[in-house]
Amino acid sequence: MPTLATTVDGLKLPNPFIIGSGPPGTNLNVIARAFREGWGAVIAKTVSLDAAKVVNVTPRYAKLLSADRQEVIGWENIELISDRKFEIWLDEFKKCKDQFPDGVLIASIMEEFNKDAWVEIVERCQDAGVDAFECNFSCPHGLPERKMGAAMGQEPDILEEVCGWVMGAAKKPVWAKMTPNITRIEDPSRAALRAGCQGVSAINTIRSVMGVNLETLRPEPTVEGYTTPGGYSCKAVRPIALRMVMEIATMIRREFPGRTLSGLGGIENGGDAAQFILLGSDTVQVCTGVMKFGYECVKPMCEELLEFMAKHSFETLADFKGKSLDYFTTHAELVRMQGERKAAQKAAAVTKVVKTDGEWSGDEFVKQSDALARG
Ligand SMILES: Cc1cc2nc3c(=O)[nH]c(=O)nc-3n(C[C@H](O)[C@H](O)[C@H](O)COP(=O)(O)O)c2cc1C
Repeated sequence: MPTLATTVDGLKLPNPFIIGSGPPGTNLNVIARAFREGWGAVIAKTVSLDAAKVVNVTPRYAKLLSADRQEVIGWENIELISDRKFEIWLDEFKKCKDQFPDGVLIASIMEEFNKDAWVEIVERCQDAGVDAFECNFSCPHGLPERKMGAAMGQEPDILEEVCGWVMGAAKKPVWAKMTPNITRIEDPSRAALRAGCQGVSAINTIRSVMGVNLETLRPEPTVEGYTTPGGYSCKAVRPIALRMVMEIATMIRREFPGRTLSGLGGIENGGDAAQFILLGSDTVQVCTGVMKFGYECVKPMCEELLEFMAKHSFETLADFKGKSLDYFTTHAELVRMQGERKAAQKAAAVTKVVKTDGEWSGDEFVKQSDALARG
C-alpha cells in the first residue's frame, strides 16, 4: 500500500494536503475543523502586528462561471490579510496547539519593511507554539500600497534582506510565499533561499480585473461604484501555477538541492495534486478549493492521490516528486527531436517500400524519396 505520509523540513505530515492561507484558516474554529477532517497541515490567514491598519470592504469577491453557469472556474478577491487582533491570534495559536498537539500549524506573517516588526512577529508567534512560518510576500492588492506583500516579493534584494531578518529570529522552518505577478519567479525564490529560508510556496493570486458589468458599466467587485484590481485564484490559474512551480523546482534542483517547495493554485482533486508533485512540489496547498467544496474534500483528494500512486507503483511521494521535470526542454530542442524522428520514419518507410517492391533500383528510390518528402 502506498503512503501519503511525508516529512518536510522536519514537519511530520500525515498527507501533503495543506490548507492555504485565506478564509479556510481564518480563526481557531475553522482551523480545528480542518484538522478534524484530516488535512496534513494548516496555514492560518496572514497576520500582522497591528490589525487596526487592515480595513476590509464588501463585496470583496467576484467569480468567473463556466458556460452553463454551474461552476466557479475563476475567483477574484480584494480581501486583505486578517483584520483580527494579533493578541487574539496568539491566544488561538496556543489553544490550537493544546487541542491538536500533533497538528502542523503554520503561521502566515506579513509586516512592513522594518526589522524590529518582523523579529517581533516571528518571536511572538513562535512563543505561541506555531510549528513553522510562511512569509506572505505576495498579496497583490491593498497591502502593496503600504509597500507590503507583493511590493516586497517583486524586489529580490528587499526580499532577501527581510528573509535574513526572519531567519535571524526563527527557530522553526520558514517558507517564503511568492507572487506570480513578476516575469521571472525564480529570482525572488532564489533570494529567499539564499537568505536561508527552508522552502518556497507558490503561487499567490494573480493580479486581475474580473470584468465589467454591461448594465452599470462598473467593474466588479463593485464597492461604492468603484473597484481596484484584485487577486485571481481557482482552477483557471492552475496552468500558470504549474508553469511557475516547474520553474522554481528546476532552480531548486540545480542551485539548492534539499530545499522544499509547496505548490498551489487551482488544486481541486488528487490528480491536480499529483501534477504539482510531479513538477517538484513537496506539499500542496488548497485555498479556493476548500471554499468551493468544503473541508471534507481532503478525503477524496487523498484517495485519488493514493489511486494514482498505486497505478504507477509509487510507494511514497518521494518516488515521483519532480519526475516530470525531466520532460521539459527548449523549443529548439523540440524542433531538433521532431526533425530526427521524422527523418528516421521516412528512412524506414523508404526501406519498406523499396523492399516490398522487389529488386533494388536507384531510380525507384529517388522517385519514392521525393514523393515522401513532398508529403
Ligand atoms: C479570498 C482569498 C483570501 C486570501 N487570503 C490570503 C492571505 O491572507 N494570505 C495569503 O498568503 N494568501 C491568501 N490568499 C491566496 C491563497 O492562499 C492562494 O495562494 C491562491 O488563492 C491560489 O490558490 P487557490 O487557487 O488554491 O486558492 C487568499 C486567496 C483568496 C481566494
